[in-house]
Amino acid sequence: MTDPKTRVEQLRRELNDHNYRYYVLNAPAIDDREFDTLMHELEDLERAHPELDDPLSPTRRVGSDLTKGFEQTQHIYPMLSLANTYSPDEVDQWLERTRAALPGENVDIVGELKFDGTGISLVYEHGRLIRAVTRGDGTVGDVVTENVKTIRSIPLQLRGTGWPEFFEIRGEIVMPWAAFQRLNEERAFNEEPLFANPRNAAAGTLKLQNPAEVARRGLDAYLYYMLGDNLPCATHYDNMLRAREWGFKVSTRMTLLRSVEEADAYIRRMDTERKQLPVATDGLVFKVNSLRQQLNLGFTAKSPRWAIAYKFAAERARTRLLSVSFDVGRMGTITPVANLEPVLLSGTVVKRASLHNEDIMRQLDVHEGDMLYVEKGGEIIPKIVDVDTGARTPGAAPVRFVSHCPACGTPLVRVEGEAAWVCPDRWGCAPQIIGRIEHFVGRRMMNIDGIGEETAATLFAAGLVRDIADLYSLRPDRLIALEGFGPRAAERIADGLRASLNVPFERVVYALSIPGVGETTAKKVARAAADIDRLMAMTEQELTAIEDVGPRIARSIVDYFAEPDNRDIIERLRAAGLCMAMPERDASDCTDRLGGKAFVISGVFEHHSRDEYKALIERHGGRNVGSISKKTDYVLAGANMGPAKLEKAQKLGIPVIGEDDFLAMIAE
Ligand code: IVH
Repeated sequence: MTDPKTRVEQLRRELNDHNYRYYVLNAPAIDDREFDTLMHELEDLERAHPELDDPLSPTRRVGSDLTKGFEQTQHIYPMLSLANTYSPDEVDQWLERTRAALPGENVDIVGELKFDGTGISLVYEHGRLIRAVTRGDGTVGDVVTENVKTIRSIPLQLRGTGWPEFFEIRGEIVMPWAAFQRLNEERAFNEEPLFANPRNAAAGTLKLQNPAEVARRGLDAYLYYMLGDNLPCATHYDNMLRAREWGFKVSTRMTLLRSVEEADAYIRRMDTERKQLPVATDGLVFKVNSLRQQLNLGFTAKSPRWAIAYKFAAERARTRLLSVSFDVGRMGTITPVANLEPVLLSGTVVKRASLHNEDIMRQLDVHEGDMLYVEKGGEIIPKIVDVDTGARTPGAAPVRFVSHCPACGTPLVRVEGEAAWVCPDRWGCAPQIIGRIEHFVGRRMMNIDGIGEETAATLFAAGLVRDIADLYSLRPDRLIALEGFGPRAAERIADGLRASLNVPFERVVYALSIPGVGETTAKKVARAAADIDRLMAMTEQELTAIEDVGPRIARSIVDYFAEPDNRDIIERLRAAGLCMAMPERDASDCTDRLGGKAFVISGVFEHHSRDEYKALIERHGGRNVGSISKKTDYVLAGANMGPAKLEKAQKLGIPVIGEDDFLAMIAE
């Protein structure tokens, strides 16, 4: 039998190799299961032999939950930006200027994609990744090594030979379109704010305090710039080829260009090719190839003279309208949606795009069979931004907004002063009912595991659940009788329902789907009212006295509780045991575990909201203070804590703790 040390080394080598094949070459040699088997073997061995531990082992890529606020560090070389242009002519002029500055010399250029993500600096010593730092302000950046280690295409240990003992390589952390779409879909489902684009998603993810979550989100990285005293080659292009041999992902679109004509042809070619790429790009970068020439050209205060970025115009696609359908939301709002001839747009095939509402549809003047322009914003559904009226078929009829609900046939109503048409049949219109059930069970509401969109629709179609209160009288035997439901699925739903009885009143209010009452309003209203009976009895005037509640929302709340069906649901939910009041400030809930210590809360949290943390601090004898000073005892930091705050805390030597540390402090 091989000894553990040899086997561990062998497994690490093999797994690194498979990662490289999979993430860099896109040419896996084994399937996922075989990979997992090797990984598990390594995990088992490492657990049994802690003395063989290596922080760069491939098992460490999954990340741990332990990272606190980010440390900051000064860049060895400042991270500058690039001069920009939107015109190919200006690229030509830059090239001419550059040639003029190097009289009598042959100037080769390298053309590259400009990746639309977030810049990263990686430092390697003896072939091992020792530090990953964000751009920050260009001089000082955040150390995000733990998060970066979860990115499978970044080598932790370099392959091959010939790397300098110490060097830096820079590149872009990106979120591929597919991962971006998946993440936003998940966030939409959980009613969390969506990321506007993959760049924001990549930057936001890199700053999470939880490497396991970073690992889950599927970031990738392309490298494009090597720095150091002993680089292997005299040209940028050759250095990048070496970097590729050492295991870095260097774009295969990187191309040597020898003339203005070649540069122009490259721009034309890439403007087409980039649409097929799995990641977002916002332009091209042209760089002088020779490092000696780069040195001669030098830098301006902001950017190198030896490089220029050419930016693409915003991406839109032109395609034909097949039909317009009308979606019904859980509040009854009707959204017109264009069904399109499938078209490729920024890496994904688009088949549906929003036409927003009747006013916008009319402004766009959409006719049947029109050629439309689609753009991708941050939304999951792209939007129609223009119509190519020149390409309209003569005699094509204008598309009309529906007058009746497409799902239940009820005549639509339009609230005065609002753009949306609404189906008023709250209790008979299937998509509204299913939508409300789906919302009710969502993670930020009652968080009932085991029920998603499909299950909500199935339960409704089977006649088992006609409103949210019916969920609590679901009988496991009726569930198991449904197709696709085994005892385990039924059990999971039962567990989820049971756990939801502990969900605080504020979230119950949000879960009810009162029109206009979002998460924040629900909290404020719940706290002001303190319990459901008081809330149901409140007048419009009393409601408008609550922060964030205007006359429209107040009216909507009063209308909601005036409806006998809603009052009936509330009574059934109460009978089922849901929390219908804010917790009493009972002395037995309070402790002095925090002993008067002063806390500053910063960032975004996973387990509780900021307000909940504030309440917890007070309940356990701590104090909330607004800003960091010498008198602060702890900073409770979530994701996205501001770098200035972090720096201040570090300067004053105040411990920065994460959620888990805090919860451990107040646990019995
Ligand atoms: S070179 C000193 N090459 O664009 C110049 N940058 O607008 C170093 N970027 O900060 C940068 N793709 O984050 C370079 N192929 C590429 C790039 C690239 C994307 C980003 C990078 C940089 C920003 C400048």
